[in-house]
Amino acid sequence: MYANKAVKKWVDEMAKLTKPARIVWIDGSEEEKEGLEKEALSTGELIQLNQEKLPGCFLHRTDVNDVARVEHRTFICTRKKEDAGPTNNWMDPQEAYEKLGKLFDGSMRGRTMYVIPYLMGPVGSPFSKVGIEITDSIYVVLNMRIMTRMGRPAMEHLGDSDDFVKGLHSKANLDPENRYICHFPEDNTIWSINSGYGGNVLLGKKCFSLRIASYMGRQEGWMAEHMLILGIEDPEGNVSYIAGAFPSACGKTNLAMLIPPASQKGYKVWTVGDDIAWMRIGEDGRLWAINPEAGFFGVAPGTSMKSNPNALLTTQKNTIFTNVVLTPDNTVWWEGMGVEPPSHGIDWTGKPWTPDSGVKGAHPNSRFTAPASQCPSISPEWENPKGVPISAILFGGRRAKVAPLVYQSFDWEHGVFVGATMASETTAAATGAVGVVRRDPMAMLPFCGYNMGDYFSHWLEMGKKIPNPPKIFNVNWFRTDENGNFMWPGYGENFRVLKWILARCKGEVDAVESPIGYLPKPEDIDLTGIEDEVSRETLEELLKVDKEAWKEEHRSTGEFFEKFDRLPKEIRDQHAALAKRLGI
Ligand code: OXD
Ligand code: MN
Repeated sequence: MYANKAVKKWVDEMAKLTKPARIVWIDGSEEEKEGLEKEALSTGELIQLNQEKLPGCFLHRTDVNDVARVEHRTFICTRKKEDAGPTNNWMDPQEAYEKLGKLFDGSMRGRTMYVIPYLMGPVGSPFSKVGIEITDSIYVVLNMRIMTRMGRPAMEHLGDSDDFVKGLHSKANLDPENRYICHFPEDNTIWSINSGYGGNVLLGKKCFSLRIASYMGRQEGWMAEHMLILGIEDPEGNVSYIAGAFPSACGKTNLAMLIPPASQKGYKVWTVGDDIAWMRIGEDGRLWAINPEAGFFGVAPGTSMKSNPNALLTTQKNTIFTNVVLTPDNTVWWEGMGVEPPSHGIDWTGKPWTPDSGVKGAHPNSRFTAPASQCPSISPEWENPKGVPISAILFGGRRAKVAPLVYQSFDWEHGVFVGATMASETTAAATGAVGVVRRDPMAMLPFCGYNMGDYFSHWLEMGKKIPNPPKIFNVNWFRTDENGNFMWPGYGENFRVLKWILARCKGEVDAVESPIGYLPKPEDIDLTGIEDEVSRETLEELLKVDKEAWKEEHRSTGEFFEKFDRLPKEIRDQHAALAKRLGI
């Protein structure tokens, strides 16, 4: 069907290995989609939802032991172990091909092999890149259809070129003991076997757009980051763009789709992306970003009309829900949806469930896969082939203490240090100790496709090359008081902090210099309309830098850095400079 020789040759090789009963080349058409849905309904892979209330929507349940990304089974397979670095699992590429080759041998016997050409990035963009995913899962095909530009646009972008990422996926028999997600950045290749869960099998997302793309970005002089992208329109109609990296459970999708509070008249937030940013230096010397994805693969629990109305509205049609509760009228429900649970339903494991059964109905990592184009706040620029110019980069985490509401780095190099020391605390929602600080530099620890020390160097190098770089900030919406209550209202009110950030980018407000960076003057954070909720004293507390706590933070980051074999000198120097400013 497709004339590209390199694609054909590789597909032939993979078919010889996996031995499918038939091969289907995916073109992305509407008829093809309908045929696949029909087939998935007949096998039970999909359940059709109430087509009046949720048109075009389906439910899927994964295997109970296959509900999340498997970091301990995710490998970076570079020829030299040091190139994968101390924070990645490593396997020798030859060993990995042999080991997984045995598992893939005949893994598609009796099944259909789907060949999915997909484009990451807008059609016609010089940023965009092509992947081909081979899979034996219809669920994967239908999700990739939402998450990427699938079929024709990808093949047209590729033309005769052999420059594509080769992704091979097989559900095999979903054996968790033989589940592997292997990346071969030196060969533009991904092999994923024995999983059917999104993050492990939608190879365009974390595997390509972060792990492989971060490696490509370093080679080619651009950046692939685990960042949302949003635009803020002011009352005069000017739009400025912000990119932000946050570890999971910090409200990244909520921030990307924020609705400004009523008091902020004339302002609007536009969503460009909620998870991944590819950024290049533009002709004007600024950093320009695209969202390589075409959909949202969002966490369902906690998504409500209060926390994120735009996300909820996005999922009202053409959405695939995974591992949520099926209600008696064939709609969906999850914990934290902000509506009464159904009196009974079917839980994510497929068993009858009631709200007082003592177990959660939806899996905590249950998801929705929804087209970005359906988001009420989607930016008119989200598919602009040029991308959008980034004025500010945010780093953030969940910190009950230590990190103030917001601070600005002194410069790019210091900003890289701030990103490298990013951390988040575990919450009561997860198993294990509460409040344990986990370091997650730039929220990329699970997603960097090469040595993280080299990754810091790449950030530093980029800083030298960008004539007009974005300003770098750290934010923390999660400070608590002595009773453990959140001091900042969060959600839409975070807009007030974004507004200060933009004012700083435009040079419109002064700031207070502190040992950790520039802090807002309390009067420069607009509290109109929330004066009762956030008093001036609370705001002052939110902006306080506790020197003793920061001395401990300094010690802990130093300990973290010890594990890096290729830590750039600049990061060490920044660590030493912070010590000096803190009087250590
Ligand atoms: C995601 C993640 O699914 O970061 O986006 O885990
Ligand atoms: Mn993510």
